[in-house]
Amino acid sequence: MKIAIGSDHGGFALKEVILTLLQELDHDVEDVGCFGHDSVDYPGFADLVCEKISQGAADKGILICGTGIGMSMAANKHKGIRAALCCDQYTARMSREHNDANVLCIGERVTGPGVAEEIVRTWLSTPFVGGRHQRRIELFS
Ligand code: RB5
Repeated sequence: MKIAIGSDHGGFALKEVILTLLQELDHDVEDVGCFGHDSVDYPGFADLVCEKISQGAADKGILICGTGIGMSMAANKHKGIRAALCCDQYTARMSREHNDANVLCIGERVTGPGVAEEIVRTWLSTPFVGGRHQRRIELFS
């Protein structure tokens, strides 16, 4: 799967952990930054990841900031983007099964690296169930 990943400084360390996992899982990953702990503004990185998806250059995106909240707000401004802030495996699974989320948001200051890895594994391997849920996502698209 082609995956675009981005973070701000608040999510940089967790991005490195998730990048390693994605490479181990053999995904085709594009890291749009940031590339260090210096303070940056998260919306620009949300835009870069969402544009990759809109252009067809990525199938899915992962965005990480301190809480995951700012990234999810910024990503959901983009047409066609369904970004889900997930804090456990249940929300990760449901965001795929019922909401067909195409961007996963995680908060580094909220979610430890072990749980974050399980969230990513679950989110990437869970299919959308469609049916009545397709109608519902079309209602807000
Ligand atoms: C940065 O300090 C922090 O505000 C950001 O990473 C994020 O949590 C915003 O929602």
